[in-house]
Amino acid sequence: MTDFLVKREDLRECRIVESDVPELAPGQALLRVDSFGLTSNNITYAVFGEAMSYWGFFPADGGWGRVPMWGFADVERSEADGVESGARLYGYLPPSSHLVVVPADADENGFVDAAPHRAALPSTYQRYLLTDADPFYRADTEETQMLLRPLFFTSFLIDDQLADDGLVARGPIVISSASSKTAIAAAFMLSQREGVDLVALTSQRGAEFVKSLGVYGRTITYDEIEALERGPATFVDIAGDGAVRLAVHSHFGDELVHSMTVGATHWEEFDAGGTVLPGPSPTFFFAPDRVVKRSEDWGVGGLQTRVADAWHPFCEWTGGWLEVVRGTGFEAVQSAYFDVLEGRVDPKTAHVLSLQ
Ligand SMILES: NC(=O)c1ccc[n+]([C@@H]2O[C@H](COP(=O)([O-])OP(=O)(O)OC[C@H]3O[C@@H](n4cnc5c(N)ncnc54)[C@H](OP(=O)(O)O)[C@@H]3O)[C@@H](O)[C@H]2O)c1
Repeated sequence: MTDFLVKREDLRECRIVESDVPELAPGQALLRVDSFGLTSNNITYAVFGEAMSYWGFFPADGGWGRVPMWGFADVERSEADGVESGARLYGYLPPSSHLVVVPADADENGFVDAAPHRAALPSTYQRYLLTDADPFYRADTEETQMLLRPLFFTSFLIDDQLADDGLVARGPIVISSASSKTAIAAAFMLSQREGVDLVALTSQRGAEFVKSLGVYGRTITYDEIEALERGPATFVDIAGDGAVRLAVHSHFGDELVHSMTVGATHWEEFDAGGTVLPGPSPTFFFAPDRVVKRSEDWGVGGLQTRVADAWHPFCEWTGGWLEVVRGTGFEAVQSAYFDVLEGRVDPKTAHVLSLQ
């Protein structure tokens, strides 16, 4: 069994560990992790590893951690009722060759991992979905599912919340790190709403790519914020860059209607930019909380159906620009991890990795 470990105190340190594949106890199943996607979102899991317990999903010893990923796995052996070996699953996985799970609530859709160390963690991350019954699944889009499905889910919920709160009609929606996959998916959804004015905020590096996507109304770079017209506006902060956040808040001041913090792509600068922010206090957007709300409103099935219906056109559209970079083994995983950690990934590319 192979594990890719990251030092929890220093995300720039990583190593590979080999061990025997564990024997199964009754009630357990052994998953063979086929492949997983790696984007900035996974770095945020590491950055908030302690604060939001992301290290708790796939524990490792001695100050090391396994950064959670989304991907596909096959059931290699099963001692659990209702879980057949050979079944293929989508879900939350460690950057490892294998994972032992304790399946519960197994049915034709999949199961949840009831391992005791995961019990207190958000339920969104506990479910393993059988590809045969999964409305998102198509065999020829597995790579896109690994890379974009969890981000799309978040973006669907961001779009839904902004519309639900009436913010789509209250001035421009300014989205930072507009070249990120999460921002692009949110813009794809928002752009279908009538009357929306979408402003992409990005780096010089990302500007041409962002314009070429055609989902934002305007694209401006971080040094052009002051050129935006003043008035009511909503800020969707995908990047967590303190200086950008301060610039946007200072520019719009009290006219800023809402400031939503989605991620910490700029993980080393998240707190920078001064403590006193003009305008409304930023609100952290935690997708699992919104999932709980919409699951109550629409039912779990109703939410899944809505997201899956929106997913397929998006997935097809990304086929026109997304370039998937495949890598296998420790060197490839380490190199991709460092590239994403240091923000060196060309926005139109994304990594799909495997430790098999
Ligand atoms: N709150 C939630 O529930 C939730 C859920 C999903 C995702 N998210 C967050 O959304 C964010 C985007 O994730 P993603 O996977 O979509 O990102 P991604 O596609 O990997 O984003 C790449 C973009 O982010 C910027 N960037 C990346 N690393 C950087 C660095 N080290 N320094 C400066 N800029 C950097 C660049 O954008 P520009 O050049 O355009 O600035 C880059 O093009 C993450 O922070 C993620 O955690 C949050």
